[in-house]
Amino acid sequence: MINSWKNQHPASLVLRLWLGITFIYGGWNKATDPGFLDQGSPHYIGAQITGYLNTSPIDFILKHMIEHATLMGWGVMITEFAIGFAVLAGYSLELVSLVGVGLSATLWLSATWSVKPYFLGSDTAYMILWLALFLLARGGKSGRNKSTLISDLTDRRELLRLVGVGIAGVAASFGGKLMKNSNPTPEAGAAITTVANFPVGSTMNFQAASGEPAVLFRTNAGVFAYSAICTHQGCTVAYDAGKHLLKCPCHGAEFDPAQNAKAVTGPAQSPLAPIKVAIKGNNIVQI
Ligand code: FES
Repeated sequence: MINSWKNQHPASLVLRLWLGITFIYGGWNKATDPGFLDQGSPHYIGAQITGYLNTSPIDFILKHMIEHATLMGWGVMITEFAIGFAVLAGYSLELVSLVGVGLSATLWLSATWSVKPYFLGSDTAYMILWLALFLLARGGKSGRNKSTLISDLTDRRELLRLVGVGIAGVAASFGGKLMKNSNPTPEAGAAITTVANFPVGSTMNFQAASGEPAVLFRTNAGVFAYSAICTHQGCTVAYDAGKHLLKCPCHGAEFDPAQNAKAVTGPAQSPLAPIKVAIKGNNIVQI
């Protein structure tokens, strides 16, 4: 019998409301971000994970996630929705709180590890809030009379409820995606940037007309660009200004933009694909 909002400690009511609403909003925010699962976007989950490699203490794990970034993105989005729905409904609170602790800890160790001082990063606070809810649930004061890990995992009705919130999470994720399907791909001929904003020596990421991520350079010789899709197994490369090379975070391939993006360090063998760009009037455009 679920008595979600009755006979519970006021602290658990506050925690459940706040965590439930916030994690549903977090999932919705990702689901309606057209760039979150779009490889050509700077918001792309893979680009975000690549950015965390320089600061995260779990970079050795994140490296392996980059190849499966889109899958990871779906996973985070659906999990946020599912635990948000479950905590509001009062399902399996011990189990759901532990998932919340794990998710918040992972986000802290990757996305907000470099935030200083630490209290400005919200993931540590969410981790502690989920932990507090777990302890309340363990004491039987957070929703259902008795919610334990073992009973939740062996109770068929509770398992069905968990499957239900999982399905609701998938549906909400797809719903959000359908509403904001994708970034409009820039057309060939559209301005990438202006000449004034991109002086000699500059580098920038942009989305090519094909939809793929690309990197634009300007030197004394003019403007040129390459696809940012690694020719080894398709991860997104990033420019390393210190080494003057485009580096792939997945298996370490390096490409030299000054030599037609040829692979100078394996395992990639082929150069990055060139993308034709030119200066037209005040703009730099893809042609
Ligand atoms: S995908 Fe393997 S080195 Fe880039």
